[in-house]
Amino acid sequence: MSNLRALDLWKEQVLLNRNKNCESIDLEQMFLSVLGTNRSDFYTKKQYLSTDNKRELCEMISRRNSGEPLAYILGRKGFWNIDLIVNEHVLVPRPETEIIIKLVLNLYGQKAIQVLDAGTGSGAIALALASERKNWIVYALDKSQEALNTAQVNMQNLCLNINLLRSDWLDSVKSLSLDVITSNPPYVSEKDPRLKADGVIKEPLEALVSDHEGLADLNKIIKESFRCLVNGGRFLVEHAPEQSNLVKEFFKESNYTAIEVHKDLNGDKRISTGIKP
Ligand SMILES: C[S@@+](CC[C@H](N)C(=O)[O-])C[C@H]1O[C@@H](n2cnc3c(N)ncnc32)[C@H](O)[C@@H]1O
Repeated sequence: MSNLRALDLWKEQVLLNRNKNCESIDLEQMFLSVLGTNRSDFYTKKQYLSTDNKRELCEMISRRNSGEPLAYILGRKGFWNIDLIVNEHVLVPRPETEIIIKLVLNLYGQKAIQVLDAGTGSGAIALALASERKNWIVYALDKSQEALNTAQVNMQNLCLNINLLRSDWLDSVKSLSLDVITSNPPYVSEKDPRLKADGVIKEPLEALVSDHEGLADLNKIIKESFRCLVNGGRFLVEHAPEQSNLVKEFFKESNYTAIEVHKDLNGDKRISTGIKP
């Protein structure tokens, strides 16, 4: 039986069993993962599913149906130009966060800078920046030791060099020490029904939820970043589109200038930036 036929048969079974979350595209990724192959080999060569492969596939489908994101099941997620190990201790990096990478690279070009990513999770932002600019000194912090361990594995797998530190936001960071600070902090209200959505339901709450309707960490990190930046330094932060006006107020209260909001690919106001004068 061809690989394609085998995949089709499994898809039919998934449909017949009215699987809740597992979709055709997930199933294809799961096939590639258990067979340890890529798309082009999968569709051109014949490989047979062993009994172990089939058992593994059934386990993956059942995990997916329990709401677990595909990225945790496969154990990896692509972000920018890198492939990251992900697990239940870190947020699954989102495409909208890549706007931060694009902005920083365009703003600074090849100029040597020191940049910190606060709340790094898997290390997505810090490692994407380090992969693009070998002459930048990149720091990444998180409160969670498990997240830092994951970022460390990613750094080693990618043969990159970033400086990881455990810190409650910028408590351990010196004043006037950085050219750029980036952050994608938790910004979801604990009452937000989206926390129950497929995939999100299995992500760590401490990576998603913030007090005061999702605004507490945004407010804190905007204030603290101002202290740690050099004069002329820049802060870039991700937030929910509906928070953009309040985030602008937080930037103003902290004396940031040149405050701008940038839209993501859906046209939603997602990233705010400001300069410390
Ligand atoms: C929304 S996740 C972002 C992860 C990653 N930067 C990304 O974009 O995929 C927020 C991260 O902030 C971390 N975090 C939450 N509270 C923190 C705090 N008080 N100090 C430092 N990091 C914190 C969480 O552990 C989590 O890894």
